[in-house]
Amino acid sequence: MKSEQHPITVKSTFEKDVFEGLTAYPKYLLSKYIYDKRGDALFQEIMALPEYYLTRAEYDLLDTNKRDIAALFEDPDGFDLIELGAGDGKKTKLVLSELLYRKADFTYIPIDISLNALDKLTLCLKQELPELEVQPGQGMYFDVLKRLSSYNRRKKVIMVLGSNIGNLLHPKAIEFLKKIKDSLSRNDLLFMGFDQKKEPSVILNAYNDPTGVTAAFNKNLLVRINRELDANFDIDNFKHWESYDPETGTAKSFLVAQTKMEVTIKKLDLTITFDPWETIHTEISQKYDDRTVSWLANEADLRISRIFQSPDGGYKNYVFTMK
Ligand code: AVI
Repeated sequence: MKSEQHPITVKSTFEKDVFEGLTAYPKYLLSKYIYDKRGDALFQEIMALPEYYLTRAEYDLLDTNKRDIAALFEDPDGFDLIELGAGDGKKTKLVLSELLYRKADFTYIPIDISLNALDKLTLCLKQELPELEVQPGQGMYFDVLKRLSSYNRRKKVIMVLGSNIGNLLHPKAIEFLKKIKDSLSRNDLLFMGFDQKKEPSVILNAYNDPTGVTAAFNKNLLVRINRELDANFDIDNFKHWESYDPETGTAKSFLVAQTKMEVTIKKLDLTITFDPWETIHTEISQKYDDRTVSWLANEADLRISRIFQSPDGGYKNYVFTMK
């Protein structure tokens, strides 16, 4: 007897996560999926917005403190500077140039999931800092870190800029820090940026610019689902909404349905409905204070050994070591 033919449909992680988030109540989507080609370009635009103070604050902090930072990283036996999520490298170049000026013996290892982003960065560094030794590592952060820790014996400095940790809820942030800690040896350092709690309206404005770039960035999730999963979200019928809770320090982004809607996602074989004013939670951007960072460090078994801060204290880079 002939067996019945069933089409084999293997769902990607993106498909599974979208299905899970949009069939949950309240609905949510994971912010990591904002970053396709268009999402990356919109984030570049965000970083140049007058309201998005984070990039400038960290740039100024690095520029002001680059000598102290370079001295802290340097080691007579040489070291590896490993950056998780290097982006366009604009801020990192300040530290790299300072290290080259001091004739430090080091290799710069930018790590990213996107080979395209790494190629672009490597090419740009080759042109701007030809004497720099660059060894890009493509893959998931922790797979690459594991690989590096197993064969590399010299000092490691792991760098995570841009308050990227802020896109994780505290339990996930602790997991992230613990995984980094697991790859650290005695002499190694973790250098990480944390945006700080401040005047609440400054934070709200940073995620709610009047030109609508952040709204387009947030809505890119729906654009991507429409394109990749053959869906029919009416994007203009969703409103970008930002909230900030000054007690917890959590900024939250939402997409709010302005009318009752029905959306079909063909590739998921799924139809979902929205009541008027129903929400999709899309991103958190956590803001910190020293107490919270110290608690996170403790939970991850790390020790804060030094804090650098921007002139108004609104942004800080913490140096962590093993306990
Ligand atoms: C990448 N990340 C730290 C940014 C942030 O500030 O949360 C992403 C972002 N979302 C809206 N604007 C910028």
